[in-house]
Amino acid sequence: MSGQTAAKAMVAATARLRAAGVPDPARDARLLLAHAARIEASRVTLIAPEDLAPEIAERYDQLISLRAIRVPVSHLVGERDFYGRRFKVSGEVLDPRPETETLIEAALSAPFDHVLDLGVGSGAILVTLLAERPSATGLGVDLSEAACLQASANAVLHRVGARADIRRSDWFEAVEGRFDLIVSNPPYIALSEMDALAPEVRQHEPELALTDGGDGLGAYRHIAAGAPDYLLPGGRLLVEIGPTQAQAVSRLFQAAGLSGLRVIPDLDGRDRVVVAYLPR
Ligand SMILES: C[S@@+](CC[C@H](N)C(=O)[O-])C[C@H]1O[C@@H](n2cnc3c(N)ncnc32)[C@H](O)[C@@H]1O
Repeated sequence: MSGQTAAKAMVAATARLRAAGVPDPARDARLLLAHAARIEASRVTLIAPEDLAPEIAERYDQLISLRAIRVPVSHLVGERDFYGRRFKVSGEVLDPRPETETLIEAALSAPFDHVLDLGVGSGAILVTLLAERPSATGLGVDLSEAACLQASANAVLHRVGARADIRRSDWFEAVEGRFDLIVSNPPYIALSEMDALAPEVRQHEPELALTDGGDGLGAYRHIAAGAPDYLLPGGRLLVEIGPTQAQAVSRLFQAAGLSGLRVIPDLDGRDRVVVAYLPR
C-alpha cells in the first residue's frame, strides 16, 4: 500500500474487507487507518490527501489482513468504548457491548452503596458503576484469572481501583457479605446457538464468556440460588439477558423468593435486563 494517499489506501482496504464479508468495511478501514497512523479516528479526513509513510502503510496492511480473517477491531486496537469511557480489551475477555449500557442505565436509576458484579470480564460494568457513583464500593468476580487481571487494570485506568475489589470466584463461591445491588451479564448463549454467531465472536471471544455449555440459563440458575443470601433486604438484582429469555429468567428469580420483577428493553426494543428485589 506504500506510495499512495491515505484516501486511496482506505478505498483499497475497504474493498478487501468487503470481499472478506466484514459487515461495515468502510468504518473498519477508517478506524484501522487511524490506529496505524496513531491518530484519532476523527482526524482521518485531514490526512486523506497525504501520502502514507511506508511504516504506516505496512502497519495498515497488517491490520487489514488480520481484520480480513475476522479478528475484531477492538482486539486490533486493544480498546473499546463503553458508556463514554475507553476500556482495554483483549481476546481473553468479552468485548463490552452497547446493549449492556441498558443495564448501566437501570443500575444508575436508583441509589446503591455496595455492588457485586458476577462475571466482571473487562470490568466494563463494575468500573462504570463505580466511576459514576464516587461514594460506592464494589466487588467483581470472575472464574477467568485473565478477566480478573483485565478488570483490575481497567479499574486502575479509570481511577476506581481503591474502591474495587476484584477476585477469582466461581459465581458466589468466594463472595462474602451482602450487597444493596448485584449485577451480572453472564454467559447466556445456548450451546446450540454458538454455530450461528459471527466469526468475530465465535473464533475470537472466550467461550466461557459466551455460553454455559447448555441451554443458556445455567448462570441464571446459579444467580437465582445465591442472590437471596447475598442481597440486603430490599436490595436489587439486575441481569442482562438474551432477547428470548425474559420469561424463563423471571420465573427462576420468582421461584427463588425474589419479587418486584420487571423487564427492561434495550434501545432496539428487545428484552435486555431483568430486575428483581429481595423482599424487606
Ligand atoms: C458475557 S461476559 C460479561 C463480561 C462483562 N461483565 C461485560 O458485561 O462486558 C460473562 C463473564 O462471566 C464469566 N464467567 C463465566 N462463568 C463463570 C463462573 N462460573 N463464575 C464466575 N464468572 C464466570 C466469564 O469469564 C465472563 O467474563
